Amino acid sequence: MISFLGVVHLARDKIKKAASDKQSIGNSTTQRKSDHIRICLTEDVQALHKKPGFEDVELVHNALPEMNIEDVNIGTEMFGRKLRAPLVIAGMTGGHPIAMRINAVLAELAQETGIGMGVGSQRAAIENSSLAETYSVVRKVAPDALVIANLGAPQLARGYGVREAKKAVEMIEADALAIHLNPLQEAVQLEGETSTREVLNRIGVVAEQLEVPVVAKETGCGIAYEEASKLAKAHVKGIDVGGAGGTSWSAVEAYREIGHETSRTEDEHLGLTFRDWGIPTAVSIVEVSAVKELKIIATGGVRNGIDVAKAIALGANVAGIALPFLKPAYAGDKNFLRVMVARLIREIKTAMYLTGATDLKALAKTNLVLKSETAQWLEMRGFDPKRYSKRRTSDNS
Ligand SMILES: Cc1cc2nc3c(=O)[nH]c(=O)nc-3n(C[C@H](O)[C@H](O)[C@H](O)COP(=O)(O)O)c2cc1C
Repeated sequence: MISFLGVVHLARDKIKKAASDKQSIGNSTTQRKSDHIRICLTEDVQALHKKPGFEDVELVHNALPEMNIEDVNIGTEMFGRKLRAPLVIAGMTGGHPIAMRINAVLAELAQETGIGMGVGSQRAAIENSSLAETYSVVRKVAPDALVIANLGAPQLARGYGVREAKKAVEMIEADALAIHLNPLQEAVQLEGETSTREVLNRIGVVAEQLEVPVVAKETGCGIAYEEASKLAKAHVKGIDVGGAGGTSWSAVEAYREIGHETSRTEDEHLGLTFRDWGIPTAVSIVEVSAVKELKIIATGGVRNGIDVAKAIALGANVAGIALPFLKPAYAGDKNFLRVMVARLIREIKTAMYLTGATDLKALAKTNLVLKSETAQWLEMRGFDPKRYSKRRTSDNS
């Protein structure tokens, strides 16, 4: 059997070969972003053992759905935009030519199917305005879609403020701004920014003064009740839980480190050791939904329409998916993407029919059973997992 170190060194050899094939790995924001895309396209970057928790959520089957499956309505509204399905293409990219192509393909999908879309961190275009069109292509191609801008909390901690936030929003005529929280990624990244002392205050200033709502977004480690409460008090209107169990940025950074010229073994290990760190997505939805009035986006390991239905039944408003969209978008396979969204919609509608929910409001009240580690986690944290299991009675269904 191959050892842990053996795996690390095999991966190192693979990426070094890619690097010597002139796909150089570098340090600028633009270069870093294209490294991320390439690694996500070529390596297994998902959490290794950690699951998003949806496997511990069972929607209670309704053997008597007295409705017509065609009547299931999955339309919703978020930040002033109508969505034909409770789905968002989670923010991934921008800042280089490949990203522009990916964003254009995904924006066309969002416009055509009536779902939302986020862009990746706009730091590259704030630093270099000639890159703005790699993001603004999204609004150009998707004039009617919910579009979410994106900046990083580490940049806010180091001086970005309302001016940069406005620029990011205006660049893509966004309906909301996501401020991503990624302390794990920064901590395991060679050039990571781990000085975040004043970050909550700075998020608060931006959230109070910006004319569009601010969403605080994790990127794979989830958000707990305590932080969600602080963010809500700081005028944040939405949370993207970005839970653990899907794409692991610790894994991405480990692969990046392995391919780096000045690679240090202890840094490679740090990324791999923390690969499964974080609050699983299903748990984070429950924790965050205990804070009232927040709009909740559920990303992190959402992989089919049943996961989407479970996320909504747990308290999310919409669900977001990133990694599964990346490869077909990179390949420009628009037909595959259309089929993917059509399949997700069929799965959501079928799950709703089988719980007797005619719309998303009814789905949010359907009965579900929380099992195993997810139930255990919630119990240990003072949330009552039983409160979901008998919400819908024969009288209020
Ligand atoms: C290639 C790639 C790039 C990403 N870049 C960003 C980013 O710039 N800003 C951000 O907030 N999240 C970013 N994310 C995180 C996603 O939006 C999402 O929260 C996370 O990947 C979990 O979803 P998934 O398991 O469906 O991939 C990125 C994800 C991927 C796969």
